[in-house]
Amino acid sequence: MSKFMDWVDARFPATKMWEDHLSKYYAPKNFNFFYFFGSLALLVLVNQIVTGVWLTMSYTPSAEEAFASVEYIMRDVEYGAILRLLHSTGASAFFIVVYLHMFRGLLYGSYQKPRELVWLFGMLIYLALMAEAFMGYLLPWGQMSYWGAQVIISLFGAIPVIGDDLTQWIRGDYLISGITLNRFFALHVVALPIVILGLVVLHILALHEVGSNNPDGVDIKKNKDENGIPLDGIPFHPYYTVKDIVGVVVFLFIFCSIVFFFPEMGGYFLEKPNFEQANPFKTPEHIAPVWYFTPFYAILRAVPDKLLGVIAMGAAIAVLFVLPWLDRSPVKSMRYKGLLSKIWLLVFCISFVILGVLGVLAPTPGRTLLSQVCTFLYFAYFILMPFYTRLEKTKPVPERVTG
Ligand code: HEM
Repeated sequence: MSKFMDWVDARFPATKMWEDHLSKYYAPKNFNFFYFFGSLALLVLVNQIVTGVWLTMSYTPSAEEAFASVEYIMRDVEYGAILRLLHSTGASAFFIVVYLHMFRGLLYGSYQKPRELVWLFGMLIYLALMAEAFMGYLLPWGQMSYWGAQVIISLFGAIPVIGDDLTQWIRGDYLISGITLNRFFALHVVALPIVILGLVVLHILALHEVGSNNPDGVDIKKNKDENGIPLDGIPFHPYYTVKDIVGVVVFLFIFCSIVFFFPEMGGYFLEKPNFEQANPFKTPEHIAPVWYFTPFYAILRAVPDKLLGVIAMGAAIAVLFVLPWLDRSPVKSMRYKGLLSKIWLLVFCISFVILGVLGVLAPTPGRTLLSQVCTFLYFAYFILMPFYTRLEKTKPVPERVTG
């Protein structure tokens, strides 16, 4: 075996890569619950790719046959129903995991220097993931697939001068048709997965270049032993590979329970109108995007003007990109930040959840007002950040991690 590895290593840096990224990658020893979600995101990504490849074997990307081919997968293809539900539940699981992963970043200041690029690559993944989910949602060619895409694509029509041409260019037709379905299929199945995989590699390379942050926000590279190994670091393999298996088991238990017993999740993971084939002549009574988009949809609807609404929605995502430069705090972790940072993070999270709920519901004057307040608070969290992070009194950060 070792002779074989010598042969390989003389031609390809297999052992070096194993050591750099696993057996000699020293991660802080105080990772907690929130550090499970990076490896879980990888797991869900693999699940989406594997189930996606097998679904593609039986799916037909045409307006005439797409809906029936999904029914065929559900009823006739062996293990087809499980494959499809693993994929549809996997989409929602992906966003749950990624939102918790991002929340960890906010909690422990993982986006701060020197991890700005880790965060930026993460944000690009998030954008690509939203595009991937949006395009995938058109493929079953149900009523919500059709009308959801109709609403989102028509938003581009609000852009002055080029709006109408742009929407036509995206659809490839005067209305959403088999042509749109075909190009979304190509992007969903080939182009975007490649982009996402590439970005995940860059994300992890950038992280391993600077090393992981931790719940204390302490730089473990400042305290090394005589061999240059961080005193508060432990090799990722075997310590965290084994620890992450615990997270994987718990996650799979919950995930499989949903796949087997509640795959529709009360209409949130698989929406009711999508059990009816797309009909361009019949608009569903109430069109709402899937839950993971609803906070942004609520921001869009909170603004009375269509163009300004589209701008606000775009800005809500764009502002996350500049987060590393908005936080001026001398400390990273929420454990040592002041009261204002804690209150604002809480306000931000509550607003985000309320916006998510409002985005599912039909608008009423009261709900619109509430969504305006939450939109205001959402942006205030970011816009005021340079001020409250600089003004507040922080606690002293310990030299070593506290466990
Ligand atoms: C496909 C989606 C993603 C995958 C597979 C992924 C994977 C990972 C992995 C394996 C780690 C190291 C383990 C950990 O710290 O949990 C990590 C760290 C990190 N990720 Fe992601 N990630 C994804 C999306 C995102 C997104 C959307 C963001 C934020 C915009 C993000 C921000 C970060 C940050 C800041 C770290 C460093 C955390 C720290 O050291 O405290 N990631 N990611």
